[in-house]
Amino acid sequence: MCGIVGYIGQNDSKDVLLNGLEKLEYRGYDSAGIAVLNNNGVQLTKVKGRIATLREKVDQTVYATMGIGHTRWATHGIPSEDNAHPHQSTSGRFTLVHNGVIENYIDLKKEYLQDVNFVSETDTEVIVQLLEKLYEQYNDTAEAFRQAMNLLKGSYAIAMIDAEDSDTLYVAKNKSPLLVGLGDGFNVVASDAMATLRETDQYLEIYDQEIVLVNRNFVEVQKLNGKVVDRKPYTAQIDAGDIEKGTYPHFMLKEIDEQPIVMRKIIKEYQDEHNELKLDANIRQAMKAADRIYIIAAGTSYHAGLVGKEFMEKLAKIPVEVHVASEFSYNMPLLSERPLFVFISQSGETADSRSVLVKIKEMGHPALTITNVPGSTLSREADYTLHLYAGPEIAVASTKAYTAQIAVLAILAVDTAKVKGLELDFDPMQELGIVANAMDVLTGQKEELEQLTRDYLATTRNAFFIGRSADYNVALEGALKLKEISYIQAEGFAGGELKHGTIALIEEGTPVIALATQANVNYSIRGNVQEVVARGANAMIISMKGLEQDDDAFVLPPVHELLTPLVSVVPLQLLAYYAALHRGCDVDKPRNLAKSVTVE
Ligand code: F6R
Repeated sequence: MCGIVGYIGQNDSKDVLLNGLEKLEYRGYDSAGIAVLNNNGVQLTKVKGRIATLREKVDQTVYATMGIGHTRWATHGIPSEDNAHPHQSTSGRFTLVHNGVIENYIDLKKEYLQDVNFVSETDTEVIVQLLEKLYEQYNDTAEAFRQAMNLLKGSYAIAMIDAEDSDTLYVAKNKSPLLVGLGDGFNVVASDAMATLRETDQYLEIYDQEIVLVNRNFVEVQKLNGKVVDRKPYTAQIDAGDIEKGTYPHFMLKEIDEQPIVMRKIIKEYQDEHNELKLDANIRQAMKAADRIYIIAAGTSYHAGLVGKEFMEKLAKIPVEVHVASEFSYNMPLLSERPLFVFISQSGETADSRSVLVKIKEMGHPALTITNVPGSTLSREADYTLHLYAGPEIAVASTKAYTAQIAVLAILAVDTAKVKGLELDFDPMQELGIVANAMDVLTGQKEELEQLTRDYLATTRNAFFIGRSADYNVALEGALKLKEISYIQAEGFAGGELKHGTIALIEEGTPVIALATQANVNYSIRGNVQEVVARGANAMIISMKGLEQDDDAFVLPPVHELLTPLVSVVPLQLLAYYAALHRGCDVDKPRNLAKSVTVE
């Protein structure tokens, strides 16, 4: 939620800031702004809307070698130019951008800022006004900044410029992601290395409650108490090509198509030279020691967790509970004696999951994070990490991360079964190879799926996805995909549950998309389809080869029954894509959403 970028160097900063913000737009896109500093002082440009609008408004004749920028996902205050960042103190001396939520901003306002006229409704403006107050007291910007950071409660990634100091960017972090990129005669600041990969691949990780003074030629990391910290840079392992659309019209379509490649990458990364499963010995130990697994996740990652539960229980014989992260902390179930917490998160930054992680670590329980971003907060703060190897996922709607999560969960379950000495008749790598080939076939069937979208979803206002057993889990994900990018109201239901209420919603023409990939429920799900058809539904059955019947709309290539979610989700992703496309929706950046949800 929100992205920040900063530059201090020898060249004009506007290009780095605007280019960086475009790369960060996935983090929020309702308003944006930049502030640059040159001999004429701070030049501030803000807009309600996207970076493209900001780019049009920025005065290209202004030349400035340092600046900060922000793209916003509104938390406090509506999307508007006033609420857009950067925010300035009343005198105009201090200008800052912020990602996060300041929990005590009302208290700070009451205690220190009674006499200040606020221009915006944001918690961020409190930080910059507080800084100005503290400067009056300390007469030293670095000290005032440090004092201000010590007063903040909540999450923040901050970059600030002082109009009287053209040599320093003031940066701070707590709970929100922030990196400092190192260059030759310049340095950059970004929420995500993707933003500044064009400038450098050398990055310093910044930890919570740290301040960084960023100069053109050096960077000093400090603790909040002022103690200087030594930190070595690392090389960002992101391929610049991975963050470009290339010839694709949308990132979502590119990412759907990348799924077979991701499956093969996972097979490669989780296998040793003897074709044996390769997992960290500590993870194996933790899995073996656990008497119950608690999967914590949100949204699509939660749906992947539901699929993973089946793997763990059926293959590794460990009981699993899957919990929505935002509910868990406030409604904690009775825990078993030896729980292991497994956090599933594409971004590794989801605040709801992180708050559970903080809580269970305080309780002394072990945690494993399964993420696409190994250096992310959830990865750093858990005891162990499993990497998804999906490559950057830019489209807000998650596709390849979901299938990667399921594949890694399957590997983890099989590995645990082996560590526990259980006999299995299931070779995950061979089966995932078959899945990858099946995904190749499916991504080649776009025309067929586009036509099905026209037939079933062209004008509808709502749609239902139904399935039983493993198909129910995928029905939930299919419905989420459709609603989040096409704005069609869509719900996923267990086939047998319809008659307990929901069937009342079925009218003449209501689209019902039914999955039939499980032999043991093939007849019962088809029975449910008959029930809705009898009430006027326009039913589309997507079945697995071998279980198909004559009127099925789409037949999936066969894969192992346990792994059917990996293939049945692909047509649902494409149906959602085409539905959004035909309705003129912004596929990659749906309204009201952001890719990385770093507020609770
Ligand atoms: C939906 C989607 C979201 C995320 C959720 C969790 O397409 O992407 O539902 O799955 O916000 O995000 P992560 O996985 O980053 O924790």
